Amino acid sequence: MKRTHTCGELREGDIGTDVTLCGWVDSYRDHSGVLFVDLRDRYGKTQVVFGPDAGTEVHQRSKTLRCEFVIEVQGKVARRPEGTTNPKLDTGEIEVRAVSLRVLNPSLSPPVQPGAKELPGEDLRLKYRYLDLRRPEMQEAMFFRHRLIKVMRDYFDQLDFIEVETPFLGRSTPEGARDYLVPSRIHHNNFYALPQSPQLYKQVLMVAGYDRYFQVARCFRDEDLRADRQPEFTQLDMEMSFVEAEDVIQVIDGLVATLAKELLGMELPTPLPRMTYDEAMERFGHDAPDLRFGMELVDLTPIAAETSFRVFREVADRRGRVRGLNARGAAGKYSRKGIDELTHFVVNDFGAKGLAWFKVEEGRKLNSPIAKNFTPEHLERIAAAMEAEPGDLLLIVADEFELTCRALNGLRKRLGEELRLYDPQAMHFSWVVEFPMFARDEEVDAWVAMHHPFTAPRASDLAILEEEPEKCRAVAYDLVINGFEAGGGTIRIHDESIQRKVFRLMGIDEETAKERFGFLLDALKYGAPPHGGIALGIDRFVMLFAGLDNIRDVIAFPKTQRATDLMTGAPSVVHSRQLRELGLGRTK
Ligand code: AMO
Ligand code: AMP
Repeated sequence: MKRTHTCGELREGDIGTDVTLCGWVDSYRDHSGVLFVDLRDRYGKTQVVFGPDAGTEVHQRSKTLRCEFVIEVQGKVARRPEGTTNPKLDTGEIEVRAVSLRVLNPSLSPPVQPGAKELPGEDLRLKYRYLDLRRPEMQEAMFFRHRLIKVMRDYFDQLDFIEVETPFLGRSTPEGARDYLVPSRIHHNNFYALPQSPQLYKQVLMVAGYDRYFQVARCFRDEDLRADRQPEFTQLDMEMSFVEAEDVIQVIDGLVATLAKELLGMELPTPLPRMTYDEAMERFGHDAPDLRFGMELVDLTPIAAETSFRVFREVADRRGRVRGLNARGAAGKYSRKGIDELTHFVVNDFGAKGLAWFKVEEGRKLNSPIAKNFTPEHLERIAAAMEAEPGDLLLIVADEFELTCRALNGLRKRLGEELRLYDPQAMHFSWVVEFPMFARDEEVDAWVAMHHPFTAPRASDLAILEEEPEKCRAVAYDLVINGFEAGGGTIRIHDESIQRKVFRLMGIDEETAKERFGFLLDALKYGAPPHGGIALGIDRFVMLFAGLDNIRDVIAFPKTQRATDLMTGAPSVVHSRQLRELGLGRTK
């Protein structure tokens, strides 16, 4: 070993010891000829002093050191002089007085300075990711990620789950995003699809009798990217046989409690709270509500139907909904201009037609330009329904149900942040259950699976599966953390005749089903046990547990919003010879 200690290791007890340290020059300062270097590695920083003890030659050479040079230093550990200790550093009591210096490698002037307080733009960080990954914050995130995955693996191992790897080169899977395709050289015009998830393989593993499977699985989805979405991401995927939803939920409750305890030192009572999809949409307008704060949506449709305010009544008459929320104590915080901004927000971002508002004054009097359209009795009923108190701001959207959900959820999230309605350190975990089986795809005029087409309907809904698919609920469960969908799973269909019905409803004919999922349908005919499972988004878990707001900050080599890798330059043009081999592009 070149080094005797790491840069985070030396303490008072080591004073007087001769040591060798290796690391990167984090920063350097020249104080009247004496050079102070903060030497950094993944374990911490140690102050190294190149003074007269070093001898003239070493002292002179130390002056050529620049940020991010990798060096090896020998010296003696000494107590820092009175008044120069640094309580922010674990090694802050001591310094190493250098006697020798080897530059193991110099560095060009780094475009991303790991030691600097200010961060450059993200593009630069991604291009020089090796420099960015040297930053203590990034290293901490990577260690945290490692620990989180380790706790997950140990947890499942203890419960007799086994990790089985499933292929990357496979057939198109059913998660509903666009596939990344890989052309076959041997079979021209044939493509592998990178897995959107190991869904079909894990079901086959259940048929194969593996009973309890898990995998830290890489998934690939060619979809529009956001702060919480990457084209390739990692799932903790699991599947169990002979289970009901309750069993899967219990295993994950236990996992989440273990993670909270091991990683955050937090006692999390289980079972985690649950609400149905319908309740989530009614109370919060979203299927992954942020429950760190209240501000629930209130339905005013019955009152609206009786008023003479045209905007409200017409919507109520069309069987739309008039719903609102009460921003408590916020009347004074939003001027007319502020409310105009909120109006633009719901109109531009969510397609609302407007935003009705009332400021609540003394005596619970509602003040608004639209107040004149309402009788005092209706105003009082609105105030009562929204539990209005003086100083509150009531915001109301009238539209189709789905649009009121989107607009009010957006508004609720924005106000929650602007009005600081929650502690940013707080964590809230919950389940949303009983999702609809199907959503309507108006474009193709067909039912599409809300989760995926192998999801079982509730036994009590089997009778209405074909007559009233819109009312049919699935045995599906999503884990929600702080308003993010952190995981989703279902109990699967293991009965081929029900599977066939579901395909039929979705307009997937026998031939297509056979072509796309034939191997699974075949497997279901050979003694498939009842089974179900879930996948957790590991990147989102790490982001949320680490208190960050962007999954790129917990992925070593992420892609940009435009799905490019700025460091390697992927995706890139390939050689025409490669294309020819694959039978693609122009062949001459
Ligand atoms: P689902 O599609 O809900 O379920 O995915 C499970 C979880 O994976 C995370 N996730 C993502 N994270 C980052 N970037 C993405 N592009 C991305 N897409 C999804 C989310 C999500 O909750 N096979 C089913 C699971 C099952 O039924 O067992 C599946 O993949 O946190
Ligand atoms: P208008 O009658 O269009 O001038 O609208 C009167 C007020 O009602 C304005 O403050 C609009 O922003 C608001 N408004 C209009 N349409 C809606 C709607 N669909 N939902 C809620 N408020 C609306």
